[in-house]
Amino acid sequence: MTIQTIILAAGQGKRMHSDLPKVLHTVAGKPLLQHVIDVAFAVAPDAKPLVVYGHQGDVIRRALAHANAQWVEQTQQLGTAHAVLQALPGVDANARVLILYGDVPLISTTTLKKLIDTTPSNAIGMITARVSNPTGYGRIKRDAQQQVIGIVEEKDATDAERAINEINTGIYVVPATYLKKWLPTIKNNNAQKEYYLTDIVTHAVQEKIAIHTVEPTMTNEILGVNDRVQLAQLERAKQSQLAEKLMQQGVTLRDPARIDIRGNVKVGRDVIIDVNVILEGDVVIGDSCVIGANSIVRNSTLGNSVTIHSHSVLEESKVGDGSIVGPFARLRPGTVLDNTVHIGNFVEIKNSQIKSNSKVNHLSYIGDSEIGARVNVGAGTITCNYDGANKHQTIIGDDVFIGSDTQLVAPVKVNNGATIAAGSTITKEVPANQLTLTHRLEQRSSKEWKRPEKVKE
Ligand code: UD1
Ligand code: CA
Repeated sequence: MTIQTIILAAGQGKRMHSDLPKVLHTVAGKPLLQHVIDVAFAVAPDAKPLVVYGHQGDVIRRALAHANAQWVEQTQQLGTAHAVLQALPGVDANARVLILYGDVPLISTTTLKKLIDTTPSNAIGMITARVSNPTGYGRIKRDAQQQVIGIVEEKDATDAERAINEINTGIYVVPATYLKKWLPTIKNNNAQKEYYLTDIVTHAVQEKIAIHTVEPTMTNEILGVNDRVQLAQLERAKQSQLAEKLMQQGVTLRDPARIDIRGNVKVGRDVIIDVNVILEGDVVIGDSCVIGANSIVRNSTLGNSVTIHSHSVLEESKVGDGSIVGPFARLRPGTVLDNTVHIGNFVEIKNSQIKSNSKVNHLSYIGDSEIGARVNVGAGTITCNYDGANKHQTIIGDDVFIGSDTQLVAPVKVNNGATIAAGSTITKEVPANQLTLTHRLEQRSSKEWKRPEKVKE
């Protein structure tokens, strides 16, 4: 039987106090709703989830244009039953419907699979949880035989019902036929004047349809985001899961509470990651790499045995085996370092390739360049790649030595084996295997000169 997911995401999210729709706020760098769409796809790959949206629908649909989803508008938020009803025309009558929430992002495939697999296909399955503070949630009512007989919302509950600590997570699996039969008949005669989806339980009890409950593997799976405090709590919960996964794969984290992962990370063995590292987007890290404290690696690939010293920022870069970067280095998009390249402190590299065994160790800017193998770029060397209107390329051959404080005014080429003397401003092609220097002022010294003395107060 096909599982058709319906994701409810039409709520406004007032308590976020945000111009951004609540479901577009992120956990681990991914919008809340995208987390739910992804888990829906993982447990029910045969039908695209139906996402019920309301407030700022254009913004949500634009932000998630590539998501694997079908979009259903609910113009007025009249309650959870009304929301599901809007999506029902898109549901195959033979399907089982899995109901999820756009603001409950950590629900796991394991728990959802358990719900789907252990609920008989003609029964209703619900995820419920026993919590220490049930405030705000619908409470699960059971009879003496522990059979579910109803769900009562907090606002409609008696004191005795409020004392129940088993709560409704709102996640159900229900045969579509029941929803198609019951939802149009649900009334809004309750404290909130809303059409409650929880009323399906009353119908099931009346029609003697079995109700099966499942508890989540971890309690934070069922937590929703209503405000930024809860958003931060879920972020931490997710980060600790991701950190644990890395450690299970053979990574040493100096402190698993001080790493942030916002994307897809592939790691080799024996990687060591120091504190306060951020890994973002698609990151690939080879075997035996070391990433120093306070570094950011975004959409980049590190080969094997790469060392990134502390406080380095890498973006859309590739770093070859055995290379060393930082501390305080910045690799901008398009940086490709071959094997055993050394990039030192206060060096910025952009859109440049550097071949093996070359070094740019101190205070340099290398932009739009190709640098050969075994090149030494002296401290303070700058490629002047921008003339105020256009960007130009610098090409440096193999075995070149560039003296400190050289300016390479692009477009310019330095041929193999050249040596450029310190402080040169290079504007023309540099021949191979020669010393090249630009005009220097003569060095003078003065015997008469005296260092000024400090004036006494
Ligand atoms: C609902 C349940 C409650 C459960 C709780 C779990 C009902 C009546 N109550 O309560 O038993 O404990 O969830 O968090 O179902 N939504 C729409 N359209 C609407 C109304 C809601 O899309 O017209 C969406 C919201 O965006 C949200 C979800 O449905 O993602 C739940 O709505 P919410 O108003 O938060 O329901 P609760 O009152 O918390
Ligand atoms: Ca809620």
